[in-house]
Amino acid sequence: MPDVTRRIAIGVDVGGSGVKCGAVDIATGQLVGARRRVATPQPSTPAAVVGVIARLVERIGREAGAPGAPVGVGVPSVVIEGVTKTAANIDPTWIGFDAGRALGASIGRPVVVLNDADAAGIAEMRFGAGVGKAGTVFVLTLGTGLGSALFINGVLVPNTELGHMEIRGRDAERRSAAVARIRRGLSWKAWSGDLDEHLHAIDRLFWPTLIILGGGVSKNADRFLPYLTVRPPVVPAQLRNDAGIVGAAMAAEEAAAP
Ligand code: BGC
Repeated sequence: MPDVTRRIAIGVDVGGSGVKCGAVDIATGQLVGARRRVATPQPSTPAAVVGVIARLVERIGREAGAPGAPVGVGVPSVVIEGVTKTAANIDPTWIGFDAGRALGASIGRPVVVLNDADAAGIAEMRFGAGVGKAGTVFVLTLGTGLGSALFINGVLVPNTELGHMEIRGRDAERRSAAVARIRRGLSWKAWSGDLDEHLHAIDRLFWPTLIILGGGVSKNADRFLPYLTVRPPVVPAQLRNDAGIVGAAMAAEEAAAP
């Protein structure tokens, strides 16, 4: 018999290379059933990506026995009231797109849209390295781009976009994101110097209490954390790859709560 008391929401994480989707048990932050991943359509136009999301959500909802569950979608963009305002690692036609409305029409119920790093940060603060952490906390996601989520005593300040701080005359994420290490063929040590420079720049402006580093590289934290010299403590995220899905689901559940 299905557990009818369990609250489930569906989270989607849109990235430059893949769109990932899963059903999430809101109380535990655990995925219910399998996570599904589809390659991001190329070009990653809004219409193409919305279609992929709608199919994934329908399938995941069915598989989890929760076809009407709230839906949250994290995208690599500034999001204001469902409208995507920027497009750094996704097709430029996302700029000014009413993603909330398009997804809601396609899926047939309200959809919460938020920045992907904000989504990952929400999950990390609730279930990972940020649990119980007060003060000014950053969750930075290091992937194709560098995403940032800022929390003040646990409350999210959305859309901070610290990947686009200017360092040495260009976007900081061009050197400090995880793919920058691979693209430039750098050792972990050499790349950690670039990341460290970015973290020092953040510290000079925000003086955070704690910095949590997420994204795929967090599983290799021992290869670069020892080289960092920045003042605040820096710790790896605990939730790994599913943080974006879990946080998007949590945002949807919160918005749907009576
Ligand atoms: C985008 C952010 C996003 C980050 C991680 C950046 O290039 O501007 O919105 O959070 O990449 O995907």
